[in-house]
Amino acid sequence: MNNQDYIELDRQAQSILTLNDQGNYTVPTKGLYPFQWNWDSALVALGYASFDTDRAWREIETLMRAQWESGMVPHIVFWQDDEGYFPGSKEWGTHHSPPTSGITQPPVAATIVRKLYERSGDKDRAAKLIDALDKWHQWFATARDPEQRGLVAIIHPWESGRDNLPDWDKPLSFVDTSEVGTYQRRDTQHIDADQRPSETDYDRYMALVRFGRDRNWDDKAIAADSPFWVADVGINAILRRAEYDLACLAETLGNTQLATRAHQRAKRLEKGFEGLWSDELNGYVSLDMHRNEKAQNLSAGSWLAFYAGHVLPDHAEPMIALLNSWISQVEFAIPSFDPSHELFDSIRYWRGPVWAIINWMIADGLAQNDHDALAERVRRDTETLISTAGFYEYFCPLTAKGGGGDSFSWTAAMWLAWVSPTSEKTGIQES
Ligand code: GLC
Repeated sequence: MNNQDYIELDRQAQSILTLNDQGNYTVPTKGLYPFQWNWDSALVALGYASFDTDRAWREIETLMRAQWESGMVPHIVFWQDDEGYFPGSKEWGTHHSPPTSGITQPPVAATIVRKLYERSGDKDRAAKLIDALDKWHQWFATARDPEQRGLVAIIHPWESGRDNLPDWDKPLSFVDTSEVGTYQRRDTQHIDADQRPSETDYDRYMALVRFGRDRNWDDKAIAADSPFWVADVGINAILRRAEYDLACLAETLGNTQLATRAHQRAKRLEKGFEGLWSDELNGYVSLDMHRNEKAQNLSAGSWLAFYAGHVLPDHAEPMIALLNSWISQVEFAIPSFDPSHELFDSIRYWRGPVWAIINWMIADGLAQNDHDALAERVRRDTETLISTAGFYEYFCPLTAKGGGGDSFSWTAAMWLAWVSPTSEKTGIQES
């Protein structure tokens, strides 16, 4: 690749964001995902920041406008109707304005807001957002960690953002699907069924939606007997990092009270996170908190421990050895699931494929933990995948084939914000 090739891909990435831009928010991709998604928007803002910082702020401000009274920030905001998606606002039945889903997604936003502030120095916009972010993080601490274990639970696999990861197979197997009835999936009308979650998984997803809706999405009622109550290693790592970034940003902005609160929550999460360590597997794993049962496998989420903060050498060493072993089994880093495991599936969504956003987070964490060469390897592989296949939702780690939706916003954003060496230079000049 020479400079001209990079610049051409920078242009393509910018035009994908423009294509998917709805004015104040960006859809992940047209057709398959026609609304605003929570962590997609936060990550997409990072892409906009390389050529239009005002638009970057707006993406996150729009998301936070959908925040609930409780502090929860929903995983989907249905700013306008679209019949092509299921389950839509009716199925969620949250009675909110704007209509939203009833669950959340990985809280990567505070980390991005810190980056936007460092880039633009816009105090007013940052100061407005940190109050809302603090409220969201506090909601995690209360609604999802009522026993103050320092681990937050997800109540639906969709909250992890890694929908059909094998980590959920066992906890999901206890979900009663007898009342689900018939429904019409829409995702498999857009994308081949062999790339999407199975029918059995989908029945369980719908049973969990129904469970929340029957309780009017009341946090206490859900925490009391949710059939699915799992500490996802990914969301716990992302929240820990977000609390740390929120504390640093609040400190810079002179809001010491908020900084102290975020710092205290971060400390609790840091301690709790050790409860996810598995001696047997030499890594951090998800935990079914109902049954106190750890996942029997590592996933790409395990490497997010590096993104969460500092990993102590007695854990970091075996983890790096394992990560190298994963990488040696595939052509392109980093598969979303253990490539030596029998459940590894190189093209089915979160059961094997490589995702640019996860690669960015892991690379960021590796660099922060002084593993620069490995971080660069992850960047380089992401570059090869995108330049070979295009801006797909995800990629096969064995063949570089693109999977899922095309012209995908967060893949374009990761190209602009991280992968491309030229993107900052090709950005539209701001006035
Ligand atoms: C899928 C992904 C999720 C993402 C959404 C929109 O549901 O699993 O992480 O936020 O699509 O891109």
